[in-house]
Amino acid sequence: MKVLEITGGKELTGTIRVSGSKNSCVALIPAAILADGNVTICNVPEITDTDALSEILEYLGAGIKRDKERIEIDPTTLKNKAIPERISKKLRASYYFMGSLLGKYKHVEMYFPGGCSIGERPINLHLKGFESLGATVSNDGDKFVVDAKELHGANIYLDIASVGATINIMLAAARVIDNAAQEPEIVNVATFLNNMGAKIRGAGTNRVVIEGVDELSGCFHEVIPDRIEAGTYSIIGALIGNNLKIDNIIPEHIESLTSKLLEVGVDVELGDDYLVVSKPKKFRPTKIKTLGYPGFPTDLQQPFTVLLTQCEGKSKVVETIFENRFMHIPYLNKMGANIQVENMEATVSGPTELKGCEVEATDLRAGACMVAAALIADGVTVITNIEHILRGYEDIVEKLNKVGAKITLKEI
Ligand code: EPZ
Repeated sequence: MKVLEITGGKELTGTIRVSGSKNSCVALIPAAILADGNVTICNVPEITDTDALSEILEYLGAGIKRDKERIEIDPTTLKNKAIPERISKKLRASYYFMGSLLGKYKHVEMYFPGGCSIGERPINLHLKGFESLGATVSNDGDKFVVDAKELHGANIYLDIASVGATINIMLAAARVIDNAAQEPEIVNVATFLNNMGAKIRGAGTNRVVIEGVDELSGCFHEVIPDRIEAGTYSIIGALIGNNLKIDNIIPEHIESLTSKLLEVGVDVELGDDYLVVSKPKKFRPTKIKTLGYPGFPTDLQQPFTVLLTQCEGKSKVVETIFENRFMHIPYLNKMGANIQVENMEATVSGPTELKGCEVEATDLRAGACMVAAALIADGVTVITNIEHILRGYEDIVEKLNKVGAKITLKEI
C-alpha cells in the first residue's frame, strides 16, 4: 500500500507550476477517436486517469505515442468493440467513450463508469440525450449497449446542467443543448472538436449549438491549465504560504475562489497567468455554496474546508452538487477540527489547531484536503488510500517538496 507521510508546519515559498486540466483531458482523449487522422494533444498531465484512458484506446486498437506531456493518437486503426468492465470502471471519464464511439460508429458497448464515490452519480441524462438523437439504450445490470441506425440532430434540454452529459452529447453531435453546463473544460473540448473541423458555437454558455459536418480531420490541441489544481495550491498557499506563486493558470477560471480568499483576509496578488498568495495573520469566517461554473466549484469545497478550520468564528459550507462529498469531515475532526454536518451543510467552528495522525483519502479532492490539512498540522500525518490523489494531481509530492514541504511517498 502506498501512503503519504507529511510533516506539517513547513512554510511554503517559491513557484508551483500548474499542469494541464485533468477534467479537460479526460474528455479530449476519448474525443480524439472522432478524427479521421492523427491527433496531437499537448499539456496532458501524467496522472493515472489519463493512463487509464490511454489503456482503453490501446485496447480498442488506436495507435498511441506518449512522450511526457504530449500524446499522439492515431484513431484510424481503432476497431469498435465492447470495453470490458475492468477498464470501464477504472475512472468516471470512461463514459466519454459512449458519446465518441456512438458519434463515430453508431454503436457502443461498455460498463457503468467508476470514479470517486461522492454520490450516486447516475448517467440518465447522458442516455436520455443519446435517445433523443435516435439511439436505443439497453442495459443488463451495469452493462450498457447504445445503438443507432442513424443519428439525427435534436434539441436537448438537460434537467441538470451536467458537465459529463453536456460533453457526451456534444461528442455524439446533438443540434442544440439547452441548460448546458458552462465549465471551461467544455469550452476546451468544443475548441478541440472545432480544430478538427466541427462547427460548435456557444460552448461556455448555457446553449451549445452544433452544426453537423461529414468528417473531422486530425489536429493539434493544447489542454487548458487545471483550475482545480490551481485552486488547491492557492488554498495551500493561503494556509501556509509566504509569497507562494501559482504559475501557468487562467485567473478568471478560479475567480470564485480568489474572491473567497480575499474575503477571508488572504493576501492575493493576481498576474496575467499566475497568482501569489501568503498566509495572513488571521482569517475571517465565511460561507461557501458549491455551484456549477462560474460558481464555487464542488471540487474545491473539500480543500477549502481546511481553510475554514483556521477562520475565527463560524463558517458554513453548503454542498449542492454531490450528496456524499463530506467524507473528509470525520478525518478533519480526527485531526482536531470542530465541524458539524447536517444533510448537505457543514458548520465549521474555528480556529482550531490540527494535529498529525493517520487519515484516509476517501476520494480525489478529499485526498487534496488531507494534504492541505497535514501541511499545517502539528507533527506527522500519514494519508492512506492515496491512489485517489495520484489519479488527479501530477507530481504532487515533487511540486510541494520543491517549495518547502516535507512529504514522503512510502510503500508499506
Ligand atoms: C464532472 O463530473 C467532473 N468529473 C467532477 O470532477 C466534477 O466534480 C463535476 O463535473 C462537477 O463539476 C469529470 O469531469 C470527469 P455532473 P460529472 O454530471 O460530469 C447529477 C473531480 O474531483 N447528474 O456535472 O460526473 C450528478 O449526480 C471530479 O475531479 C444526474 O443526475 O458531474 C450531480 O449531482 C469528481 N444525471 C450533478 O448532476 C446525469 O446523467 C452534476 O454532475 C448526470 C449528472
